[in-house]
Amino acid sequence: MSNITFMLLIAFIVGSFSVFNYIDHTLNEDVEPAPITYTTDVRPLFKRSCLPCHGPNTGRNWLDYDTAYRKRIYIKFRTLIKKDMPPSYWKKQLSEEERDLIGQWVDAGAKE
Ligand code: HEC
Repeated sequence: MSNITFMLLIAFIVGSFSVFNYIDHTLNEDVEPAPITYTTDVRPLFKRSCLPCHGPNTGRNWLDYDTAYRKRIYIKFRTLIKKDMPPSYWKKQLSEEERDLIGQWVDAGAKE
């Protein structure tokens, strides 16, 4: 193999690594899910399924972020593990996906 062929080969190998890295990176960025946040994902569920029992004047206010953050472990427990919130007689239930989403929100640090 001549020197020039060898150098071209090296250049090709190095080049394709960076192309693959680039593609890989771009694809991963596309696949990465948006972070679950209180404001966009969780609050609408609470608003639909937890009011009026946990509204502002009930002494159980889970609609504001600070309280939800402080109570996050209980929220996950009651909605995803024990599944007794909202109570079974309540019409506006959470779907399984929504319960999972609340759990994931808590697990990821309960972001605002
Ligand atoms: C029909 C009324 C009602 C609805 C709807 C309801 N809750 Fe509750 N919730 C209660 C009552 C009453 C309590 C207090 C008694 C108890 O702990 O079981 C409570 C307690 C809780 C607690 C425990 C509080 C603590 O400090 O330990 C959590 C967490 C909770 N609810 C979350 C929710 C979430 C989240 C929703 C909506 C997905 C919801 N609840 C919907 C009535 C309701």
